[in-house]
Amino acid sequence: MKKIVIAGGSGFLGRILENHFIMAGEQVTILTRDRISSRNKPSWVAWDGKNGGTWVTALEGADVLINLSGKSVDCRYNAKNKAEIYSSRLDATGALGKAITNCKTPPKLWINAASATIYAHSLQGPNSESTGTIGSGFSVDVCQRWEAEFNRWDTPDTRKVLLRIAIVLGRNGGVMLPLKNLVRFGLGGAQGDGTQYMSWIHEDDLVGIIEYIMENQHLKGVFNTTAPFPLRNKEVMQAFRASMNIGFGLPTPKWALEIGAVLINTETELVLKSRWVVPQRLHDEGYRFKYCHIEEAIRNLLE
Ligand SMILES: NC(=O)c1ccc[n+]([C@@H]2O[C@H](COP(=O)([O-])OP(=O)(O)OC[C@H]3O[C@@H](n4cnc5c(N)ncnc54)[C@H](OP(=O)(O)O)[C@@H]3O)[C@@H](O)[C@H]2O)c1
Repeated sequence: MKKIVIAGGSGFLGRILENHFIMAGEQVTILTRDRISSRNKPSWVAWDGKNGGTWVTALEGADVLINLSGKSVDCRYNAKNKAEIYSSRLDATGALGKAITNCKTPPKLWINAASATIYAHSLQGPNSESTGTIGSGFSVDVCQRWEAEFNRWDTPDTRKVLLRIAIVLGRNGGVMLPLKNLVRFGLGGAQGDGTQYMSWIHEDDLVGIIEYIMENQHLKGVFNTTAPFPLRNKEVMQAFRASMNIGFGLPTPKWALEIGAVLINTETELVLKSRWVVPQRLHDEGYRFKYCHIEEAIRNLLE
């Protein structure tokens, strides 16, 4: 039985991993700021995401520590939210780095979430780990400082892996429900001019990649965690319409997205930035994707 610790494991991605690893018979511990859950669920351990505490003993002898902590970026980027988006990632990563360096038997592997949004808005060509262009602006700065905080920790007995994760398509959270609703209500056309790329990954491949990294002990460093065939927003929406047997979808121009984003407390960047990111290293290292094409991923998730 493997000992798996997931910091920030109470959210969308954490629940996917927790369910999978429990079904596989592994021992899973979740680090959460939620004191009530940590009192009621024996495998949930309280921490505050920034300071040391009794939680650090949960890392002793772990096979893997997976850090997913971070305030959701699906909010308005005002000063308060921006500060929390930074601190929830930097403080949690720093607290884990410090805890690892103080462990008697540190985790064998530390996987930290990062984001594929670190790359520049791209309509010209794909971004791989080695040839990609790093972007600029608030979200990119969050990603760079998050990665820098992770890289700052020297952990000689703990292998370190950063996952630059693309938009995860999953059954119980993320973008699936809002996109399905748009299509259902006849608004499933292109968003903006629809030419922007969307890099995506099926939840089963996120799990598969983490297992692949656990098994293949020479793997370390940065991995673009995205399916091999990103496609344009208008093609993504077309794939949703086809999978849901809905023949038409009104497009949403940029100005309407901007009004809608204010009304539902989000930012248009989340749909308008062109994320053209490819998993070069996973390909080179022989990971075989279960879902390469978005049509089969959507069909599977709608079943
Ligand atoms: N979902 C995606 O498509 C996607 C794509 C790329 C990157 N990512 C990154 O992957 C990570 C997990 O994503 P997710 O979709 O699972 O996010 P999520 O559902 O929002 O879960 C993130 C978890 O982080 C913890 N958290 C929130 N604010 C925190 C704070 N101030 N300090 C410490 N912990 C805090 C929360 O756990 P508690 O409340 O229990 O403490 C929460 O359950 C995030 O860092 C996200 O940026 C996600």
